[in-house]
Amino acid sequence: MRFFIDSADVKEIRAANDMGCVDGVTTNPSLLAKTGRPMKEAILEICSIVDGPISAECVTLTADEMIAEGQGLAAWHKNIVVKIPMGVEGMKAVKALTAKGIKTNVTLCFSPNQALLAAKAGATYISPFVGRLDDIGQDGLKMVREICQIYKNYGYATQVLVASVRNPIHLLESALMGAHVATLPLSVIQQLAQHPLTDSGIKKFLADWEKVPKAK
Ligand code: E4P
Repeated sequence: MRFFIDSADVKEIRAANDMGCVDGVTTNPSLLAKTGRPMKEAILEICSIVDGPISAECVTLTADEMIAEGQGLAAWHKNIVVKIPMGVEGMKAVKALTAKGIKTNVTLCFSPNQALLAAKAGATYISPFVGRLDDIGQDGLKMVREICQIYKNYGYATQVLVASVRNPIHLLESALMGAHVATLPLSVIQQLAQHPLTDSGIKKFLADWEKVPKAK
């Protein structure tokens, strides 16, 4: 399973990248706003840190606008993946950008039928938002399970990029379902390394090490 980090903050991205587990990065306008930096400057610095797919999101609404914007974003760096919001205009843009050889990530997916549409349009990635669906009392992981099954049934090449991940259970269940990628906040990546028995085990080993006679 590939891990992307869901952040536009280069300090967070470097911290996760130093752990050796980052295969790519996803950004969105909200994450970029938190950095207080111009989008192009932040994205190009991210591209210099991580050598993998870097999602940069379109902020226009019509297909023609998204196609032009997406081509512009893709020209910034070879690793840019153009993030397109789900919708009729978005699907037209995905079809056109795919025909031009530009990789796309369809964002704001909240149903298996939306994921089916994105695959038919030729999207490189589909981003089902698990946490936001859970937030409104629906089952985000059930959506991911159904998308994985549908894509398997028909052999779609679109990769399932699990998004809006809030905790390690979201990741574990997605991995068991065979989702291709998960995009994770730094806090969740760090949580993956933690276990109380690991902490108490390290404490005990260090305490016992003190009792080992040291060579003079
Ligand atoms: C995905 O690409 C999005 O940036 C992200 O996962 C959204 O997560 P949120 O629901 O925590 O904002």
